[in-house]
Amino acid sequence: MSKSAKNTTLPLTNNALTVLERRYLKRDEKGRALETPANMFERVANAIAEAEKKFDKKADTKKVAAEFYDMITNLEFLPNSPTLMNAGRELGQLSACFVLPVADSMESIFEAIKNTALIHKSGGGTGFSFSRIRPANDVVLSTKGVSSGPLSFMKVFDAATETIKQGGTRRGANMGILRVDHPDIMDFIMCKRDQTVLTNFNISVGLTEEFMEAVKTDGEYDIINPRTGEVCDKMSAAKVFDHIVDLAWNNGEPGIIFLDRLNRDNPTPHIGEIESTNPCGEQPLLPYESCNLGSINLNRMVKDGQVDWDKLRKTVQKSVRFLDNVIEVNNYPIPEITEMSLANRKIGLGIMGWADMLIRVGISYCDQEAAELAAKLMKFINDEAHQASRDLAKERGAFPNFEGSIFEQRQEPKIRNATCTTIAPTGTISIIANSSSGIEPLFAVSYVRQVMDNDILVEVNPLFEEVAKERGFYSPELMKLIAEKGTIQDFDQIPEDVRRVFVTAHDITPEEHIRMQSAFQKYTDNAVSKTVNFCNSANRDDVAQVYQMAYESGCKGVTIYRDGSRDAQVLSVKKEE
Ligand code: CDP
Repeated sequence: MSKSAKNTTLPLTNNALTVLERRYLKRDEKGRALETPANMFERVANAIAEAEKKFDKKADTKKVAAEFYDMITNLEFLPNSPTLMNAGRELGQLSACFVLPVADSMESIFEAIKNTALIHKSGGGTGFSFSRIRPANDVVLSTKGVSSGPLSFMKVFDAATETIKQGGTRRGANMGILRVDHPDIMDFIMCKRDQTVLTNFNISVGLTEEFMEAVKTDGEYDIINPRTGEVCDKMSAAKVFDHIVDLAWNNGEPGIIFLDRLNRDNPTPHIGEIESTNPCGEQPLLPYESCNLGSINLNRMVKDGQVDWDKLRKTVQKSVRFLDNVIEVNNYPIPEITEMSLANRKIGLGIMGWADMLIRVGISYCDQEAAELAAKLMKFINDEAHQASRDLAKERGAFPNFEGSIFEQRQEPKIRNATCTTIAPTGTISIIANSSSGIEPLFAVSYVRQVMDNDILVEVNPLFEEVAKERGFYSPELMKLIAEKGTIQDFDQIPEDVRRVFVTAHDITPEEHIRMQSAFQKYTDNAVSKTVNFCNSANRDDVAQVYQMAYESGCKGVTIYRDGSRDAQVLSVKKEE
């Protein structure tokens, strides 16, 4: 243990310490922690600063490491979980997101399963398109039998994930995509209706523009057998769309992604086509690509009730450097991924604590003004991130696939990273940073957590507690009542201006959720992780309208959730890891 780290007191909450102790800290064979959180952050900062030596033998890595350490321990920026867990350690796999190709052959399918196992072991998540697999009951030439189809193979991926469980770090997560023009699409849409199957998968239907236009005109679209490339059927777009809406209304799955839109923003079309995203949908990638993410904590970017633009600019610059360094010291699970990741050098800088920032600057998540600030803020981050990446390109060179990329076609200056920005869910790192997650609104201002021996613990959002005490309406009884109710909108004893800014997920209409997602998407290279919450009484038309709105307003995909529509609703009691 180093002296500097040993004596440091970090601003970590009990929840943060619990998460770190359970999953992140280095341990011995008996499970005893071998490092403190400060040691862990020091390990990460040192390992990532080491990359500087690759470009400049005389680089002052100590100085860079100190900068990274300060930024992380001040909870201004955190890298994605695998970087925190694995940097400076034997495994050394630092990315959260991977996409693997699945071709229409046994060799390819089982090769992908093996590679999935290697990735999950290291804490990464995997996405796949199963669209190239021939449909069920098609011909199999070698055996003269019939094919099993993408759905039965997905079960094998799911079983493999279940068995690995990532050695106690984190649960393996998968994204499964099927194109809407695949012959098995109707079965795919239904495949998670039974909530006990494919539990290690999120699923999304890959929609095409042709399909979305056919929905509008109530027309038909072509179904194509991927084995032959030939049209084998036609279906009513409205019927398929209604089927998706029906199942999503039922329990939140499938999600949808707009494939043509992902490919329109593909920075390296000469290298390949984007057919899938990572498990939570925010990172479209080419087959064999990986991406490391990191998020700036907006809760720490407010000064005197205003956005601290200067601090934000400096934090973006340091974060981009950090994430580019991660690519250099990353230990990739297989050679194909090493090659792709080093050639495109994608990074995904995003944010967390957006809801906290809005509260601090006094704007309600529901207001048009919030969406305007979202666009302004993300444009600033995106522009600064691109500038930082172009500055790095001067020092270190452009990403190797730059030639032929959209940047070169547009005659833009050289850039170090094919993409710079992504908005991740920040499910765990927001707990470490004690901030609201990603760009989501607060889930609750006060909620009940069941702890051991059925004890009930009322947890209050730190900003709300601060305001409640300052304004003199705090009492443990009121906090308990709020936790039971879920929203503060009906509590007359709470001042109106406080009620206005402390809105929670269910006080916000689905349209306001989409408006926010779309405002952020406009200035994000990759995609945006966001759940659109519906109340339990919402109907299918409400869901259909939100899908159309997401399409019209430039979102790259949508995930919806109707309150109470899943049997075990983890988020109603605590944040999911
Ligand atoms: O907060 P943290 O860095 O742990 O992750 P996140 O922002 O919630 O999720 C980012 C990405 O990590 C997801 O989209 C997945 O690709 C991956 N992930 C995973 O593989 N397994 C999990 N249990 C959680 C996330």
